[in-house]
Amino acid sequence: MKKFNVLIVGGGSTWTPGLLTSLVNRKEQFPINRLVMLDNNAERQAVIGEYAKVLFNEKYPELDFYYTTDKEEAYLDDLDFVFCQIRTGGYAMREKDEKIPLSMGIIGQETCGPGGFSYGLRSIKDMVDIVENVRAKTDKAWILNYTNPAAIVAIALQKLFPEDKRILNICDQPENLLRSYGRLLGGMSPRDFEPVYYGLNHFGWFEHLYDKDGKDYVPVLEEMILSRGFLPADYEQRDKSWLETYAMVEQIVRDFPGYLPNTYLQYYLYPDKVLKKLNPEFTRANEVMAGREKRVFEECRRVAEAGTSQDSNVVVNDAHGEFIIIVAESIAYNQGKTFIVILENNGIIENLPNDAMVEVPAALTINGPKPFAIGKIPTFHKGLIEGQNAYEQLTVEAYLENSYEKALQALTLNRTVVSGLQARQVLDALIEANGDFFPELKKAEKELELAK
Ligand code: G6P
Ligand code: MN
Repeated sequence: MKKFNVLIVGGGSTWTPGLLTSLVNRKEQFPINRLVMLDNNAERQAVIGEYAKVLFNEKYPELDFYYTTDKEEAYLDDLDFVFCQIRTGGYAMREKDEKIPLSMGIIGQETCGPGGFSYGLRSIKDMVDIVENVRAKTDKAWILNYTNPAAIVAIALQKLFPEDKRILNICDQPENLLRSYGRLLGGMSPRDFEPVYYGLNHFGWFEHLYDKDGKDYVPVLEEMILSRGFLPADYEQRDKSWLETYAMVEQIVRDFPGYLPNTYLQYYLYPDKVLKKLNPEFTRANEVMAGREKRVFEECRRVAEAGTSQDSNVVVNDAHGEFIIIVAESIAYNQGKTFIVILENNGIIENLPNDAMVEVPAALTINGPKPFAIGKIPTFHKGLIEGQNAYEQLTVEAYLENSYEKALQALTLNRTVVSGLQARQVLDALIEANGDFFPELKKAEKELELAK
């Protein structure tokens, strides 16, 4: 059986231990020859890397493993898979992305609205750098990309590397939802379903959820959610804000029946209601830093010191970690399993623009994703998606063209902003806060004149 060479970029992430655990759990199905972790933050990488050494020593001794901050040691010509999960600017910048809009009465969120816009403009450059580094060595490696905001990053990579058929942008949220539906239904798993799902990243709907016999579970789940509410599959481990997010699905299903929404739609459909729940002084970034980040790093340090991972449970039941590996397996072994992934539309959704990066089910094969045709979608979803897609496209154009004007247009189009005045206010504050993380956003001559 072929063994794979894998590189994890963003090895110092709080998500990495979950990924490593899944690699251990799936070593029969997806055997690895060499695993390298790369991060630009030496300290974080060392903590996770030393933990990994102990874990692999006990559970994967045959693995050739090392971690590094040196690109030369990471980007090698025999790579098979590159898993990317970087966070440009770290949680410190996530906190600003969330708090700056909130200070102006606009939703601040990691990937939605002005927070996502800010994170997007920061991430593109680093993602381009990763792709260039990989491709300088090999055309063969698959780049599986979790990097957020996936919607923005996917458009940028599609525009800059249009011929590259081995970049695949993914998100674990549809998979998390499938797991949650499965648990609600009493023990079905994501691969038991054949989903009909469409939209953009963090902006989509399940229209059908067939089982192998053709039964559609969307109406069943709707009823269940309306009568019992909705919880994440791993709710025992989730923070309060995530439980509130899942609970909002009940409201969405009540108001807009017939479909099961991605949880992120709460920010766009009920910005007023969600805004009231968000605490401008203590956002999700604070919750993560005080919770997951602290827990993961403390536990990894402890394991490294103890020299054994036997009594460690740094992660339990992690969709994020497992998803990327089973996606890789489906590609590597040409299994053609169905996953919800992010692809250039090109007619998959008939009544949306070809260049939209849509999130849809596709069979993943060794020759890439084979999407299933969706056909025409309803006017309500189409209208919402067109606005959001225009926001995403303008954000990427603002980056590529160094255009303040397009950045302003993008934010004005975003449903969490709407007002041109507020868009300008939040844009200026984000430019200031991001400093060199941002591309230069130049004002057009006309705009400068008018400002005088
Ligand atoms: C889900 C989304 C990711 C997002 C993450 C945030 O997994 O699919 O795109 O980054 O949630 O989780 P956190 O726990 O950091 O708020
Ligand atoms: Mn996501």
